[in-house]
Amino acid sequence: GFEIEVSGREGTIFVAEGQTALDALRAAGIAVESSCEAGVCGTCRTRVLSGQLDHHDYILSTEERAGGNVFLPCVSRGCGRIVIDL
Ligand code: FES
Repeated sequence: GFEIEVSGREGTIFVAEGQTALDALRAAGIAVESSCEAGVCGTCRTRVLSGQLDHHDYILSTEERAGGNVFLPCVSRGCGRIVIDL
């Protein structure tokens, strides 16, 4: 698993193996809009401030992947600890 910190919010959200970042955020009471939940529509697109990402979506460009400032929490993950901005 890995951890998510939401900028400006206390505490850390743990994402277990087999759980999506989207589910973990919702379980923590954080609403993130979604649609496909399969990494193809872009609805859940979320800004990332820091941390290493493990992308599993089908829509980000090579530049966006390399930039490390955005991920799709319905399918993608982080390594260790990531900080996001909602
Ligand atoms: Fe469609 Fe995440 S909900 S890409």
